[in-house]
Amino acid sequence: MEGLTDFHMRDVLTRLGRYDWCVTEFIRVTDRVHPTRVFFHACPELYADGCTAAGTPVHVQLLGSDAVMLAENAARVAELGARAIDLNFGCPAKTVNNHGGGAVLLETPEQVHAIVAAVRRSVPANVPVSAKMRLGVKDRSRMIENAQGIEAAGASWLTVHARTKEDAYRPPAHWEAIAQIRAAVRLPLIANGEIWTPDDAHRCREVAQCEALMLGRGAVSRPDLVNAIRDDADLTLSWPRLVQAQSDFLQHMQAVQRPPLSDADEALMRRANVIESPRWTESGAVGRYKQWLAMLTRGFPDDALPLFHQVKRVRTLAGIRELLNASVTAIPG
Ligand SMILES: Cc1cc2nc3c(=O)[nH]c(=O)nc-3n(C[C@H](O)[C@H](O)[C@H](O)COP(=O)(O)O)c2cc1C
Repeated sequence: MEGLTDFHMRDVLTRLGRYDWCVTEFIRVTDRVHPTRVFFHACPELYADGCTAAGTPVHVQLLGSDAVMLAENAARVAELGARAIDLNFGCPAKTVNNHGGGAVLLETPEQVHAIVAAVRRSVPANVPVSAKMRLGVKDRSRMIENAQGIEAAGASWLTVHARTKEDAYRPPAHWEAIAQIRAAVRLPLIANGEIWTPDDAHRCREVAQCEALMLGRGAVSRPDLVNAIRDDADLTLSWPRLVQAQSDFLQHMQAVQRPPLSDADEALMRRANVIESPRWTESGAVGRYKQWLAMLTRGFPDDALPLFHQVKRVRTLAGIRELLNASVTAIPG
């Protein structure tokens, strides 16, 4: 998720949750092939065989409307070791849509097909190419055509965010529409939208009739949700354990060094002239932390909400650490 699940957030979430894979924020492609550093910046895990420190594969998502440029960028990032390439046909943001990228492409299924086909052709066969779509722009009239085009173009799977662009992020998500797509295509389908609890996951799977789920905001607000869904069990993450994870997150944003590399990767890095991993400034890290804490208030209202009210006005990492630690010692027993 753009502006949310960056390298640091992926690190912490994949330590807590057992994901099959995760996806980078989108990388926007316009009229040129990005310099290598853009890909390493968006996906520093490329330094480490395309996996987070916990070993979860990271797929690289591209967004754009120019099939040739998308194909060339995809080929480049595949060469750098991307585990899979995902194509974004769901972003509703004005700046993106005004340039013809993201969800607006769903009005022109032939273009969606051409993009997926061009990217598929440009990337080695062992690197999966997938797509993520919404149900449409204003309505679902071209939903099946888009899904069938994506399948015909050779995508390995399709993730469906069960809302139109006009629905933006307003609940509900229309999982039943995914069942209609299920009936019309054979490729694996992943259902996405409004999964916040294990019960949501259950109902979504039943209604959408698809084999896999993608978690968006629910993954960030309840980092143990994925494990509960997988194990068909209750949510178990304790606040003290989550406080530890939040401290690790603060530390990771500030102190991350690039991981040790194999000789081959080191050579690749030198050729690419890459020297550092992204690292937030203190105010940037404070902002990112507050954003996460705001989302945790949904999953952990009793503990995260009081902390959020305290942290709101704090501007230093030391101040945040102090309040965070105090929130554990304040727990009775
Ligand atoms: C802040 C934010 C940024 C997002 N950025 C992306 C993105 O870069 N790529 C993408 O495929 N989806 C992106 N999404 C959409 C989510 O991946 C997901 O499809 C959507 O939030 C619905 O799922 P949810 O209800 O589980 O959150 C973003 C959503 C949010 C809220």
